[in-house]
Amino acid sequence: MCAQQTLVAFKPDAIENAVVGQILSRFENEGLQVHEMKTVDVSDELLERHYNEHVGESYYPGLVEYMQERPVIACLLEGEDAVSRVRELLGDTDPAVAEPGTIRGDFGSDSFTEADRDGRAVRNLVHASATTDEAEKEIELWF
Ligand code: CDP
Ligand code: MG
Repeated sequence: MCAQQTLVAFKPDAIENAVVGQILSRFENEGLQVHEMKTVDVSDELLERHYNEHVGESYYPGLVEYMQERPVIACLLEGEDAVSRVRELLGDTDPAVAEPGTIRGDFGSDSFTEADRDGRAVRNLVHASATTDEAEKEIELWF
């Protein structure tokens, strides 16, 4: 166990569906605290660096379009084992596969299959750093 910081970003669908408060409560109820929070109008450059390993994938243009639908809310969360705990609370990347009780499982309604068919990115409400290395890189990038 160790105190960590992780980067969470509320994606456009979380804001549009007005579930930011409910999702943030889940983190806070688990003892994770908001250290910093701000609205970010994400540029092409920021996305390219943030989603570097996805550049060139078929869904990348759709991912950029999705993330630029409206300003997102970036949040620096802090707590014991924050990186892995936030990812556990989020659930699988694919909302159709995410377990009930997880954020993407409970609030998400999209699926990889459906998104694939329409040639867009999957809408899954929240981004969170997947590893401590990623968290370090993303916090530097966003804050
Ligand atoms: O967000 P997470 O770390 O769980 O997943 P990722 O594999 O790092 O992918 C980043 C984001 O790209 C996902 O959250 C999706 O919005 C999108 N994506 C997609 O639309 N289709 C894929 N096959 C993979 C990712
Ligand atoms: Mg990821």
